[in-house]
Amino acid sequence: MTKPQIWVAAFLGLFLILFLLEKSTNRSDLQETSTPGGMPQLGQTTQASTPQDLISSLGCTSCHGADLTGTKMGPNIHGVKQYWSRDNLINYLRNPSSYMSSDRFKSYKAKYQIMMPPFNNIDVKNLGKIADYLLKLK
Ligand code: HEC
Repeated sequence: MTKPQIWVAAFLGLFLILFLLEKSTNRSDLQETSTPGGMPQLGQTTQASTPQDLISSLGCTSCHGADLTGTKMGPNIHGVKQYWSRDNLINYLRNPSSYMSSDRFKSYKAKYQIMMPPFNNIDVKNLGKIADYLLKLK
């Protein structure tokens, strides 16, 4: 293999490992929330998860910080109630790039190398839970 090919192979391997790791952690979440003596309730576990669980499992904390007060990768998201209604916030989470025109977002763009990723593959009910939670953070 040429050098670039080796790099590509190494990256693919790394992603595969991360993917498998994530799978296995998800599975242990399922077990924790299974009903006593019953089968893990696959369809319902995601609905039963708390907003905090969702926020950490979706990786929000990796950019916004464990306490959501911001890191080098993303802004503080306490007090977003002043900017968002519940519906708009849910829409934002699904499609952040369509809300980039305000001055606040222009300055975010200048400050953070990465952008807020879209969460449009997440159940809207769960996004609603996250929105409710964020709208309560002072
Ligand atoms: C890869 C890093 C990253 C991840 C993961 C991430 N965000 Fe963000 N988020 C950002 C950045 C950067 C911004 C600033 C806007 C921009 O530049 O896109 C932002 C902006 C926001 C805003 C708007 C803040 C405002 O001032 O209105 C909210 C709300 C938000 N994120 C919530 C979340 C939630 C909830 C999750 C998880 C479901 C999440 N973010 C995951 C990086 C991230």
